[in-house]
Amino acid sequence: MERLVNKRILLGVTGGIAAYKSAELVRRLQNAGADVRVVMTSSACEFITPLTMQALSGNPVHTTLLDPEAEAGMGHIELARWADLVLIAPASANFMARLAHGHANDLLSTLCLATGAPIAIAPAMNQQMWADPATQRNLLILQEKAIRVLGPASGSQACGDIGPGRMLEPEELALAAAGMFDHQLLTGRHVVITAGPTREAIDPVRYITNKSSGKMGFALAEAAAEAGARVTLIAGPVSLPTPNRVQRFDVVRALDMYEASLDVVNKGCDIFISTAAVADYRPMITADHKIKKSTEEVHLTLIKNPDIVAAVSAHERRPFTVGFAAETRDVVSYAQGKLENKKLDMIATNDVSGSNVGFNSDNNAVTVIWPGGHKVLPLASKRQIAKQLIELIAIRQSTGNRQFQE
Ligand code: C5P
Repeated sequence: MERLVNKRILLGVTGGIAAYKSAELVRRLQNAGADVRVVMTSSACEFITPLTMQALSGNPVHTTLLDPEAEAGMGHIELARWADLVLIAPASANFMARLAHGHANDLLSTLCLATGAPIAIAPAMNQQMWADPATQRNLLILQEKAIRVLGPASGSQACGDIGPGRMLEPEELALAAAGMFDHQLLTGRHVVITAGPTREAIDPVRYITNKSSGKMGFALAEAAAEAGARVTLIAGPVSLPTPNRVQRFDVVRALDMYEASLDVVNKGCDIFISTAAVADYRPMITADHKIKKSTEEVHLTLIKNPDIVAAVSAHERRPFTVGFAAETRDVVSYAQGKLENKKLDMIATNDVSGSNVGFNSDNNAVTVIWPGGHKVLPLASKRQIAKQLIELIAIRQSTGNRQFQE
């Protein structure tokens, strides 16, 4: 079921008494971590209300093809592109016939033509309708089109008949849906990433910060989500869009980042990647009003901020902990020291003395060090570096290399 984490499932509901079970199916899919959007045919709305499905899925339910309001939100083509899987449960005999013959006369049938995602159907109908040669011919056409057919089960039916035509139970359907996704490198893992700078206020208009753009952390969040992980991104003040399928928390000060990080680690996560350039010090006092330039000198007393990544690696629910080290000289030896002092599982280190890598640049080149080994990732875009780094982290984490864990 962990393969459903972050997956986008478009659940199509067609007209049949089994439609009430689709409500339970939404729950099952969501509990497994999927993002579910529901599309209902007009006859499905006779059996269960869109409001019920909306309340359960937490998203507006789509029912008509040419509804200007719905199209203004997420249009039908966008919806078709959004889906990782289109699951139609229950699929009526009528819908199977329309799908087999490529009809596009309502929203759901149009979406099925417009999507590049795999389609699965869970037929549900009276046993005589299922056995009818027309339905059986349609079934063959659908199978030829590589549409997955889940069920039907056999047993007593709502109409009193006994035989094949019952929709599979929601739990079986959720399991089958999960089985349609490959196991990925970080399937089932919760990855937490800090990114960007922090901002430490001097007075209401001035602050201390650094040159971090957040690009490396955001690229890592994207790569981790693409590798199947559930991703939490704790971002300092940056102007970057949130990557797809990533849950983002914005923070400003190091103390806020510390609190947000410890909060997720307390709840439990598998991997913590600390790319943020956390301000080491903050002004001891933040002036309530703008400091006036009356004197020749102003003295600021700075006090140390907590070390977030060190606190995470010392935590009793310690995840696999990865640090970053941006240095301008003796890059590898400083990083080696931080790996040991902060008791990290891994550290990625880069030279930020030039302008073509590191802070603000779109490129990076890093040396990754872990207890007993290292790997050089030569100059490449931050997205490519992020992908390679995520692969390395996934491999090291799954081999359980936690030298410092007690
Ligand atoms: O000690 P230094 O700041 O060079 O260490 C860099 C690593 O430590 C980075 O992974 C950074 O995110 C993390 N760090 C932290 N909290 C701090 C300072 C640094 O998590 N207060």
